[in-house]
Amino acid sequence: MATLSNSKRLLVELTLQEKISLLSGADGWQTQEIPRLGIGSLKVRSIPSTERLSHGPAGARGALSTDGPAAAFLPAPVALAATWSNNDLYAIGKLLCREAKTKAAQVLLAPTICCARNPLGGRNFESYSEDPHLSGTLAIEYIRGVQESGEVAATVKHFVANEQEYQRFTINAEIGERALHEIYLRPFEMAVKSENPPKCVMTAYNCVNGSHMDMCNKLIRETLRGDWGFQGLVMSDWGGTNSTVQSVLAGCDLEMPGPAEKRGKFLLKEMVENPTEELSAAIDASCLRVLDLLQHSKLLGLSPEEAQKTRSRPETSSDVKEHQSLLRRVAANSIVLLRNSSNLLPLTPSRLQGKRIAFIGPNALHGTPGGGGSATMNPQYQTQPLAAFKSIISELGIDVEVNHSPGSFIHKWLPLLDSDQWSLASEDSSGETKNILKLDFFATGDFSGEVVETQYRNSSLLDLFDSAPSFYYEDHNLHSLRVRSQVTPRTTGKHSFGICSVGNARLFVDGKLLIDNYDWKQVGETFYSFGSVEASASMEMVAGKKYQVLVEASTREIPFGSTTSDDPIHVFGVQPSVRLGFIEQLPENPITDAVELANRSDITILIIGLNDEWESEGYDRQSMKLPGTQDELVTQLLGSAEHPENIVIINQSGSPVEMDWADDANTIVQAWYGGQEAGNALCDILLGRISPEGRLPITWPRSYSDLPFEKNPETWPGVDGNVVYKEGIFVGYRWYLKNQVAPRWWFGYGLGYTTFEFSDLKIVRLDDRWDISTLVTNTGDHDGREVVQCYSWPLESDAQELRAFGKTSTLTPGQSETISLSINLRDLAHWDIGSQKWALEKGFYNLGIAKCASDKNILQSKVEV
Ligand code: BGC
Repeated sequence: MATLSNSKRLLVELTLQEKISLLSGADGWQTQEIPRLGIGSLKVRSIPSTERLSHGPAGARGALSTDGPAAAFLPAPVALAATWSNNDLYAIGKLLCREAKTKAAQVLLAPTICCARNPLGGRNFESYSEDPHLSGTLAIEYIRGVQESGEVAATVKHFVANEQEYQRFTINAEIGERALHEIYLRPFEMAVKSENPPKCVMTAYNCVNGSHMDMCNKLIRETLRGDWGFQGLVMSDWGGTNSTVQSVLAGCDLEMPGPAEKRGKFLLKEMVENPTEELSAAIDASCLRVLDLLQHSKLLGLSPEEAQKTRSRPETSSDVKEHQSLLRRVAANSIVLLRNSSNLLPLTPSRLQGKRIAFIGPNALHGTPGGGGSATMNPQYQTQPLAAFKSIISELGIDVEVNHSPGSFIHKWLPLLDSDQWSLASEDSSGETKNILKLDFFATGDFSGEVVETQYRNSSLLDLFDSAPSFYYEDHNLHSLRVRSQVTPRTTGKHSFGICSVGNARLFVDGKLLIDNYDWKQVGETFYSFGSVEASASMEMVAGKKYQVLVEASTREIPFGSTTSDDPIHVFGVQPSVRLGFIEQLPENPITDAVELANRSDITILIIGLNDEWESEGYDRQSMKLPGTQDELVTQLLGSAEHPENIVIINQSGSPVEMDWADDANTIVQAWYGGQEAGNALCDILLGRISPEGRLPITWPRSYSDLPFEKNPETWPGVDGNVVYKEGIFVGYRWYLKNQVAPRWWFGYGLGYTTFEFSDLKIVRLDDRWDISTLVTNTGDHDGREVVQCYSWPLESDAQELRAFGKTSTLTPGQSETISLSINLRDLAHWDIGSQKWALEKGFYNLGIAKCASDKNILQSKVEV
């Protein structure tokens, strides 16, 4: 009560202008302070404090989009979901809360609980699952972990139906009422109605059934706040506020980021020229919700000086030991063993002793810790598959010979600069600095005048969205920058440089113009599809020689009409962001080299997959095929190796890829993106230190053409601005079951190094629920954990749906454990279009315990409603 009255008291004291100032961000990551009333806040580009929002999906991100202080890099959300572990999600939530605090953040922009509707979705890796029950349940645990200490607020996003990146700012998702409520809204509903609801909800960029989500009265006011009773704050996605008045009326409280593009002076003008009671009341209601969150974050009641100072709370990075082991364990728990038909795994010490091991594949030397886009992070450290393997093997004292051959390259753009090879230009005489790039900014569009700001960076993905000089944000003023570095090639050869830029850019090497991307015409996928396609050029370079590299970049608006994105003057679209890449000449026959190495080795560990360039925000994948020559690499290895049964294939991706060669492979592992502990976690599984316990949170198709999308572009990615969710509630495994299409692997599937049996199914009906229990026995000869999945389906139909799940503790061979689950009667209800309510159909249902969505050995029982 004290909280509310405090906010209400402040509301009375605020002028209209001050109220409006609270309804949009002050900069990329903060809200507006009002020192005279002791309301804390931040100014553009200063170090954090107040309503500091921190990035969510893969870790609590720092101030800058691509550099900034290091943060713990978590396994991707889809990997978290593959653990099927409430405990893991809760522990990760707690870790994130501590991480957010080191970044002085009070709000975490996570979890993402949209649905993996199509395997090509660019941000599938950032979401949990194709199943609303799994997503909702895991989200509840994660949110509980984040919010438990009361210091950090979680944000569920993107509300709702942000299942694709194509035309993401404008696409209209046409979704039938049943699918909307049962599939897409359901995880949000579960989280919001839980005992510990998220404090914030972020609206999606897209439209749903004709209305942009930030101004969707029906879903924000009626459903979220009205039907579900959500009391917290609703914010727009970044640049996703689409109107001045309507979004306020719909109850979207906060426009992000700032400075305001739709509110601020425009909203003030509305209130002065066309004041209405409705708008005034909506402004007050939104202000109150912002104030409540500030109160919760202990940012009210400050002295004016304190309020001002909240701008300069420093960010830190805390690399805590206990976080490392948690991240390693969770990343290992997420790994799914898909096939082990010759029992090659685990590679126990006795199997390895004295052997020659080949590490092959684009992700062997440098594994991929996470997907791209706003989930990009500056990790505290990164463990890589090959290096981790060598280090664990030597710790264990196992004598093996390990060799590496890339076999294939999958970069979409030339790789970002590597700090071992790049350093600041020689004018920096200290010699000690670890930064690789120096950025000199000018307040003019043509490099004239004084240098107004200098920045040093380590990443050559120079995303200036939130870190251009402050004068830029005042009125999107023209500016330019010179970026300097120097490179010392390791080899002599024809090496290549590449540039993608949002503004104009050109690159000089030793004073000579090598790439001119000043007047680019064709938009590409970098910078959320606001940047140009890559312009590249090669030159002869000599090993060990230093070359001076200079990039000149300046502001310009991206050409109207020639872009896959929708709004040319958008928050992401006008600064001179640049991506600089470099690669030394590649070997001529990488596949032949790899096959030769495999043939000289006893065991081959082949690590293939996607990376953060293929799975990212701002664009979807165009194909489910593995990029580059990876399919050929796998086929040749399987076809020409003397002992193909000695090849372990590990795939890293956040969504399914086609594996036409899968039937010829004996050992396949799905490793997702495991964050900074990915390398160690993978080795823990390969070496049998942990038995795989991950289960697929998505169904894995054999081929994209098996799905209904390819032949129906109106269902993906949409036609004329509309995408029709024609499959209704039959998403993921529901669709395969209904259409009797066999995927490669089912939702819920995964093997271990041991086997389990379920027995003794008991179902007890109480007033409003069934209590279900089953005995799980470890029938193999390795320790391990099993996931128990409970599905229901009406007797007359095949509409099977996951209703509950649980996980055993680690069981030793022969050991048993009873797993108890509950299903509420209400969970079997469907959305009744006529009454616009959940309705429970009377009759008989089957409840069954299974190991995956198609499990034929299901233990089942008939129940009556
Ligand atoms: C993404 C959001 C994210 C926001 C801030 C947007 O591009 O869609 O998920 O929270 O940026 O980084």
